[in-house]
Amino acid sequence: MDLEKAGPSTQAVHAGEAPEPTTGSLSPPLYQSSVYAFQDAEQGAAIFAGSREGYVYTRMGNPTLKTLENKLAILEGGEEALVTSSGMAAIATTVASLARAGEHVVSAEVIYGATYTLLREFWPRFGLQSTFVASSDTEDYRRAMRQNTRIVFVETPSNPTLEVVDIAALAEVARKGNALLVVDNTFATPMNQNPLALGADIVVHSASKYLGGHADVIAGVVVGRSDLIHKARQSLRLIGTVLGPFEAWLILRGLKTLALRVARHNENALAVARFLEGHPAVERVFYPGLESHPGHKLAARQMRGFGGMVSFELKGGHDAGIRMVDSVRLCTLAVSLGDVSTLIEHPASMTHTSVPVEERRRGGITDGLVRLSVGIEDAPDIIADLKQALDRTT
Ligand SMILES: Cc1ncc(COP(=O)(O)O)c(C=O)c1O
Repeated sequence: MDLEKAGPSTQAVHAGEAPEPTTGSLSPPLYQSSVYAFQDAEQGAAIFAGSREGYVYTRMGNPTLKTLENKLAILEGGEEALVTSSGMAAIATTVASLARAGEHVVSAEVIYGATYTLLREFWPRFGLQSTFVASSDTEDYRRAMRQNTRIVFVETPSNPTLEVVDIAALAEVARKGNALLVVDNTFATPMNQNPLALGADIVVHSASKYLGGHADVIAGVVVGRSDLIHKARQSLRLIGTVLGPFEAWLILRGLKTLALRVARHNENALAVARFLEGHPAVERVFYPGLESHPGHKLAARQMRGFGGMVSFELKGGHDAGIRMVDSVRLCTLAVSLGDVSTLIEHPASMTHTSVPVEERRRGGITDGLVRLSVGIEDAPDIIADLKQALDRTT
């Protein structure tokens, strides 16, 4: 069967793998090896020279990583994928391979805190500057472009305010400016959105989240055209941000149930968002599946589902936010996201502390903002827990 044309659930189960031919093992083999023996010097030299297929050393390639890369490339509709030791490694490796000193990045301002700090403080030390766009308006991105802009970077929906940007329109802005559009698709997952099909050049993920799905692994992935992934792979081999084989195997296992999990995350998040919208202690709910969300129509056009992330602002501000996250019983007070269990956190004092207060507030990350990664439990149980916690905030 041509898995590139199969449905996403079929791809999640079968793409990139087949029973191992020598033993019939249905579970993909875990090649927990750092190095590979050559048959003789001639074969070793040929593999090193690239004239013969084979493995040398896991930083340069590993069969378990390869299986995962093949699966993720098919799931995102890209020519090739490169797995990395974390989501941040995926982003840093991508930027390092596509841009150099003297060049420029245009990025969304509301993005994961560490990504923002990487672009705002880390890369300028090496001569790569960034301009941040505080809105989801494509025109603002166009205005931020410079002659030397090489990368346009966005998250959609974004962390933590679930802003939605028009991927197809931004791809056009990037193309006209001779830059590449990189989309962090962590929140949406390939089940809900495929940025490459909308014109993006590269997709990155923190695979530590939905792709793994069980809060037991840190990993990342870069997907795109072969020539771009080749460049990223060259950078990774030098920087050394390689994924461990066991971590790759855990992601492979998690991916098998991605379609099922994401369908439940989508369903539960919508139920939770609707409940929150009707609660008197809540000022505002951020969820692209709600008609009240400014990006709802766009999200309905470019996504197949609205995802499992919901943020909301409490009328009681900072103190209410802290009381809320301290009062949950079923939900877990923890950062990260995309786990099977519901996680709750307070971005202003946790995930987004590295973003200066002024910029945080401009981006809607207020002191009363609470972020939920809605899990796959029964929605009425999640809602009952949130209700009892909300009742304590007033
Ligand atoms: C949207 C997004 N991108 C990237 C990252 C970084 O991923 P990792 O923690 O796997 O390095 C995160 C982490 O929370 C994230 O939320």
